[in-house]
Amino acid sequence: MRIMKAANATILAAALLGLFGLFPSSAPAASNDSNCANPDPTVNWYGGTYICPDEAAIPAPDADGDIRYGKELLTKTYKYLTQLGVTPGYSTGNQLSCSNCHVEEGRSFGTGSWATVYYKYGGGDQYVAPTKGSYSSRINQYLDRVGRIQDCLQRSLNSQTNVLAADSYEMKSMVSYLKWLSTGVQWVSKGGIVPDGAWQQVKTTPTQAILTRAADPVRGQTVYEANCSGCHGSDGEGLWNPATQVYIFPALWGPRSFNTGAGMWRIRTGAPWVRANMPYGWANATDTTRQLNLDDTYDVMSYVVYQDRPVWWNYLNDWNCQPVGGRTCGNVVNGVAIGLPAGGVPDWMNKPPDTGYQVFYPRGLDGTGHYTHDPAYPQVFPDAQHQYGPWGAMLTLQTKIIADFKLCGRSPCP
Ligand code: HEC
Ligand code: HEC
Repeated sequence: MRIMKAANATILAAALLGLFGLFPSSAPAASNDSNCANPDPTVNWYGGTYICPDEAAIPAPDADGDIRYGKELLTKTYKYLTQLGVTPGYSTGNQLSCSNCHVEEGRSFGTGSWATVYYKYGGGDQYVAPTKGSYSSRINQYLDRVGRIQDCLQRSLNSQTNVLAADSYEMKSMVSYLKWLSTGVQWVSKGGIVPDGAWQQVKTTPTQAILTRAADPVRGQTVYEANCSGCHGSDGEGLWNPATQVYIFPALWGPRSFNTGAGMWRIRTGAPWVRANMPYGWANATDTTRQLNLDDTYDVMSYVVYQDRPVWWNYLNDWNCQPVGGRTCGNVVNGVAIGLPAGGVPDWMNKPPDTGYQVFYPRGLDGTGHYTHDPAYPQVFPDAQHQYGPWGAMLTLQTKIIADFKLCGRSPCP
């Protein structure tokens, strides 16, 4: 209890600081500031300290993009896209900025950093696998830089279509910012510049153990009220600054928050993110004394994600598309059908078990005694277990089915 009180005092202070610090949102963050330094060797590449590239040395805009404009777009996304006139096609009302989740302008290590994504999603061509782009199990396809940005726009920002053309100056500028952030990354302990292409060694997103019980949204509500509602509001509505068109405290649910296709909506992704980042101003990705515990983060996210929020319009295309409502089946991005099963593994097998919307897999066994994607057969695990866990048994089964398919094209193998 005492710990909770101390945390609350810190949160209050952080909330005030937040108000003070976030309002003049046009003030540029100093380069080489403490945001960029992350002292934890387990989080950092080569055990070094990340040095932010120098903002003062940003090159002048050219035909390939404007790095400063790209940063503006990524940190005040709603404001700029609205000015460009892409609402309402842009969105059903989501007003988040990319940097509400990719905090500190995408520079914060181990918490969703963008410091390597330019190379991770390398390649200028659209969706060419596997030498270009990076595989996303969520949609069972390879994404390049533009594809990855479009993907977050459609899910985390709930846009209805690909609102920014790949060759638009806005898209080029966003990619330019990511490139600037990812290039010549310097690590103090190595005393120099590491190879730009060596992104595999960088831990960009946080992970943590999974719960061995089901997450408890009732308990989660009490965690929310003690630690979160002071900033995000008791209805998750957040606090909007109409003057700057940027959230002071972003909405966690309701029509202005991320949709059900977003990574944040998956409890196993959201909980570790919250642990590393929230409560804002108190949580520290690398200091376990300044993190909520495992139970609290899973419970609070199980409360948050299943509140009312926009439904990802294209979810039926994510895994084993069903031709409902005249939709085109197959993995379609930018109007192009992709259909690139990874190692011959069908889409449905890659659906993360905690993605809480129908259809749930695996199902089975079918008439021939094999696991199936056919919704005519019953689920192996009940709905509630997919949504709230525990996920251990289904993750084990998923791993086994995928291994079998790679070995013999079905599961179980003969
Ligand atoms: C001191 C105020 C404060 C508190 C308390 C706080 N947050 Fe946040 N939260 C923020 C701010 C500010 C951001 C956006 C950060 C940015 O833009 O750099 C944010 C962003 C988020 C996001 C991502 C953006 C979105 O809208 O989905 C999630 C999820 C989130 N918080 C969850 C939580 C949870 C869960 C708790 C309680 C455990 C919590 N927050 C407590 C201020 C707070
Ligand atoms: C609601 C939170 C949220 C918002 C807003 C958001 N993202 Fe993300 N983003 C995530 C999460 C969580 C991941 C981790 C992967 C996943 O989705 O499972 C991610 C992953 C990414 C990645 C890949 C990172 C990697 O290491 O592979 C890129 C690039 C990215 N986002 C860009 C963007 C851009 C650009 C925007 C704005 C158009 C944006 N994101 C808005 C939550 C968010």
